[in-house]
Amino acid sequence: MSTVEPIVWHLDHLRLLDQRVLPHQTGYLTCRSAADVAEAIHAMAVRGAPAIGIAAAYGLVLAARAGLDGFEAAVAVLAASRPTAVNLRWALERMQRARASGADATALEAEAIAIHQEDLAQNLRMGELGAALLPKGARVLTHCNTGALATGGHGTALGVIRSAHAQGKIAQVYNTETRPWLQGARLTAWELQQEGIPARLIADGAAAHLMHVEKIDWVIVGADRIAANGDTANKIGTYQLAVAARYHGCKFMVVAPSGTFDLACDSGAQIPIEERTATELTEFRGQAIAPTGFDAFNPVFDVTPATLIDAIVCERGVIEQPNTAQVRALLGGH
Ligand code: MRU
Repeated sequence: MSTVEPIVWHLDHLRLLDQRVLPHQTGYLTCRSAADVAEAIHAMAVRGAPAIGIAAAYGLVLAARAGLDGFEAAVAVLAASRPTAVNLRWALERMQRARASGADATALEAEAIAIHQEDLAQNLRMGELGAALLPKGARVLTHCNTGALATGGHGTALGVIRSAHAQGKIAQVYNTETRPWLQGARLTAWELQQEGIPARLIADGAAAHLMHVEKIDWVIVGADRIAANGDTANKIGTYQLAVAARYHGCKFMVVAPSGTFDLACDSGAQIPIEERTATELTEFRGQAIAPTGFDAFNPVFDVTPATLIDAIVCERGVIEQPNTAQVRALLGGH
């Protein structure tokens, strides 16, 4: 089990491992208000769909401690911090339901801790379910960071890789750099190295070539929002991995807890896609790369159609060849 602790709750403040400076610096941010947490989410000090939901829940505990009158305003501030990962809204709504049934700051704290702990338990379950789909000697490719850093622990897609490695099933992992924030090169590589899992980094643009020259059994990714028909929003570049995987006969697995499903979206067309500032592409750590004044299109998520997905692994079970009926059967009342 990983010992990385990206989200640490301390009664009157929240400490967040600053993921912008990993792996060469380890520092924690201290959040003392919901606004501090919202800023940390927006600035990507904490990132990954489940992790931002957990952080937001603790943000509401900080708001409740400051006075229950400010609770709904804090919900609005946190909800606006990032648009695509529905886990954020899911966690806020769960906290709102607790508040509506009379929870005070102490009971809200218990609810946030439960959200955090349940996420870890769900990841361990998904790890088992996903690992069971892999052959012995599996060669897999993953994208972005979906590990302990992105969740309450163990990880979603990386959790499946961890569980499969513990079972002796993993021969080789490839992980993409994941431009422009380099979650793969900085964070996934760090987690894989700590666990001693055999892994090699590839440039994002090398994935189709890799599938052409080596057998990749499964591409395994996380999700930020899964629509009612199984269409899946995840880190930009996931869609092109799914297209390349289908062309090369590699299987494609999405791993996400039930809180990542949004049955209010009939299809991926309704999922809001976050666009971030052009300078994330035109500059690198404050240094200009592109010509001064050059524009950029910087969507940070994309939608993979359900038809390109072979399996969705959730803590409630596995859906193969996902469609609306199967998602509904698994999620039921959500
Ligand atoms: O922009 P990020 O780093 O928050 O994006 C993260 C991803 O896209 C992950 O794949 C997703 O949130 C699942 S994390 C378990």
